[in-house]
Amino acid sequence: MTILSAKNIHKSYKTGSVEAKVLKGIDLDIKEGEMLVITGRSGSGKSTLLYVLSLLDRPTSGDIIFETCNTKKFSESMDSFCRLKHFGFVFQDYALLPELNALENVILPLMASMDNWEELNDIGGKVLEQVGLGDKLSNYPSQLSGGEKQRVAVARAVANNPKILFADEPTANLDSKRADEIIDLLFDLNKKGLTVVLVTHEKKYTERADRVIEIDDGVIA
Ligand SMILES: Nc1ncnc2c1ncn2[C@@H]1O[C@H](COP(=O)(O)OP(=O)(O)OP(=O)(O)O)[C@@H](O)[C@H]1O
Ligand SMILES: [Mg+2]
Repeated sequence: MTILSAKNIHKSYKTGSVEAKVLKGIDLDIKEGEMLVITGRSGSGKSTLLYVLSLLDRPTSGDIIFETCNTKKFSESMDSFCRLKHFGFVFQDYALLPELNALENVILPLMASMDNWEELNDIGGKVLEQVGLGDKLSNYPSQLSGGEKQRVAVARAVANNPKILFADEPTANLDSKRADEIIDLLFDLNKKGLTVVLVTHEKKYTERADRVIEIDDGVIA
């Protein structure tokens, strides 16, 4: 079953009077439970596509259909609601808040929909345990290694039990052992049923995916 569809997606950025056409007609059906890898050279539009698919950004034209809903009808607050409830996002640079410890970083997005502290701490503790950081709940990002920071970011992305996890080059800043661990974590989550959309350049990871698409000059090659 298709969980998320992109229909004829175009995305342009205007910088001053210059318009850069980045996505030029992307059609894509993401199947429930699949591990989809997006690859392509630097600047080809992979991150742009991921942002549009995950409702972090709006396309210039075209439709994003989530389950049976055309998100074009969504207001900005509905976009955020949908993201917080149904999507998880892992960024290349972790995007953790430095003034919050690991546990607080993980539970922060949940606070939009929950206010029971005991329950929040319980969920946060469990997901951090799942990613192997059960003993680092109180560590601040500055007290964590790159691999551990990315684990916190993965824990944060899955704490809401999302339907789709988007990861944009989550291993770019890690050595190959830590990178493999993060990718294994994503594949494990996928095996448990989570739909994963992963952007990566690494051939050894693309080979493990259910499906690989390459973005080239704004279209799927
Ligand atoms: N906010 C923006 N304003 C203007 N141009 C942008 C913006 N974001 C991205 N671009 C341009 O869009 C193009 C695609 O960028 P994008 O980040 O999607 O590429 P990418 O495939 O993810 O590259 P990389 O592998 O280096 O991360 C680039 O040429 C970039 O300069
Ligand atoms: Mg990118």
